[in-house]
Amino acid sequence: MSTTAHLPSAPLRARAEIDLGALRANVRTLRAQAPGAALMAVVKSEAYGHGALQCARAAVDAGATWLGTATPEEALALRAADGLPADVRIMCWLWTPGGPWREAIEAGLDVSVSGMWALREVTEAARGAGRPARVQLKADTGLGRGGCQPGEDWAELVGQAVRAEAEGLVRVTGLWSHFACADEPGHPSIALQLGRFREMVAYAERAGLRPEVRHIANSPATLTLPEAHFDLVRTGIALYGISPSPEIGTPADFGLRPVMTLSASLALVKQVPGGHGVSYGHRYTTPGDTLGLSVGRVRHRATPRGPGRC
Ligand SMILES: Cc1ncc(COP(=O)(O)O)c(C=O)c1O
Repeated sequence: MSTTAHLPSAPLRARAEIDLGALRANVRTLRAQAPGAALMAVVKSEAYGHGALQCARAAVDAGATWLGTATPEEALALRAADGLPADVRIMCWLWTPGGPWREAIEAGLDVSVSGMWALREVTEAARGAGRPARVQLKADTGLGRGGCQPGEDWAELVGQAVRAEAEGLVRVTGLWSHFACADEPGHPSIALQLGRFREMVAYAERAGLRPEVRHIANSPATLTLPEAHFDLVRTGIALYGISPSPEIGTPADFGLRPVMTLSASLALVKQVPGGHGVSYGHRYTTPGDTLGLSVGRVRHRATPRGPGRC
């Protein structure tokens, strides 16, 4: 006879509280920063760990008209979920060959296409589905990652997209790109990327494409670069109340409120001298006498002990 051991369940050691009111307020703040553009709430990777569906609902509630995910599976899950209006646009950009193009078309997703292989797969799927795919052509304006290269590659992709549109297989809903260094104001790549984006959009429009949205701005560009707003801004990190970079400002400087609060009981509080390496690799060294402080559920901080502090 076997017996089942009943182990005590582990106590909760840490807790992440998500303030959806803060997220809604951040959406409103970001919309005010880019009043001429629609707002896409980037909710990829479980909304940066905050919970994709809950954040998507709150963002749409506060005026986001687009949701952005990396993978088609994330986008399909949002489309299938309750509580999001049927007309909210959902775009996904991380495709690999053999991806669920047909399901994406049937779910009315906007899908990103960076090259000929993807355009071939999506048009084939549209033929099978009997309805046009919503396609957004991605230009590599200098990030050097996803996106179609300028020049001959862009000309070929645009040309084929124009033909596929004429056949009723695709509707090119967007032309878009992504910044490499928008969180470093004045970085020379920003102006270069913007210039290249304008040229690539102009080329595509001369070739006959009429996109609903042109977009390149992520959070830092939304906050600091109005000339990059075009028709749509795609905000991720700022939505969650985090500044894209301390150099451009604190969340409070931009009127953003942190959405996540982490809390935990401390297991140990101790006094250490200055010059004490902390944990693997000693990637942090205490600048002076330091005490780890915690009161109740306040976030933990290592506070250098100065005169009069304890
Ligand atoms: C294509 C794309 N657009 C927008 C974003 C949002 O960027 P951020 O978190 O800087 O707003 C991301 C996030 O990595 C992204 O991959």
